[in-house]
Amino acid sequence: MYRNEAGVRDGIAASGLDRDDVFITSKLNNGYHAPDDARRAFDETLRALGTDHVDLFLIHWPLPTLYDGDYPATWKALEEFQADGRARSIGVSNFEVDHLERLAAECDVVPAVNQIELHPYLLNDAVHSYGREHGIATEAWSPIAQGGVLGDPVITEIAEKLDRTPAQVVLRWHIERGNIVFPKSATPARMEENFALFDFELEPGDDAAIAGLDRGEDGRTGPNPGVMDHVPS
Ligand SMILES: NC(=O)c1ccc[n+]([C@@H]2O[C@H](COP(=O)([O-])OP(=O)(O)OC[C@H]3O[C@@H](n4cnc5c(N)ncnc54)[C@H](OP(=O)(O)O)[C@@H]3O)[C@@H](O)[C@H]2O)c1
Repeated sequence: MYRNEAGVRDGIAASGLDRDDVFITSKLNNGYHAPDDARRAFDETLRALGTDHVDLFLIHWPLPTLYDGDYPATWKALEEFQADGRARSIGVSNFEVDHLERLAAECDVVPAVNQIELHPYLLNDAVHSYGREHGIATEAWSPIAQGGVLGDPVITEIAEKLDRTPAQVVLRWHIERGNIVFPKSATPARMEENFALFDFELEPGDDAAIAGLDRGEDGRTGPNPGVMDHVPS
């Protein structure tokens, strides 16, 4: 969907890093949920990335209103990719509790990861708790709400108190909650800032203050997974 697989391939080649020192995630695009299409799309992903395996492969959206709602059939195709070693681990993205429960009932492999929208304005608690209880790691997309939470007075006050930037406070909050974070930045100085999270801690009360910003559904920046049905052309 992001049309970035060739760019990732070229970036890794230019970096000089060994393949084993890089963790590559890709996702199944929404137009390819039918199992044969998923198989072809996965072959194409590996070809475009110039690698014989990815470290993690995700179903991007459950699309419960498309494909007869048969995301378990799509998941079974991903189980094949893991079994043949071409996907070291497999997971999902934007799956709600009912979607995860169906996979548990109808399929064999528990997703390693569920990548969901999660930031201080959308705690997504039900999905997060289900993951914690069932061994599914939660990966937070838009972890700083695309910058939208950085001016919040609760965040800026904690940042001033700790002498850190608002982005560092929010990313550290995720880390302390056990979330995987992958903030996007095209700005090298911000990339460095967003990695500098491991030489400080939040203070008592900070976690609760940040969690108190939750706006529930009103805090969502992206589509609701229960109705999301966009298939890119
Ligand atoms: N699974 C899904 O359905 C899904 C949906 C949406 C997004 N995602 C993924 O989630 C990842 C991150 O999400 P996102 O890009 O939507 O939002 P995000 O990481 O929360 O925010 C990115 C925005 O914040 C800015 N930014 C980054 N670091 C900053 C800092 N330290 N200080 C101030 N501003 C900063 C970036 O600007 P600059 O780039 O200009 O520095 C960019 O505009 C992406 O890789 C995306 O692919 C997944």
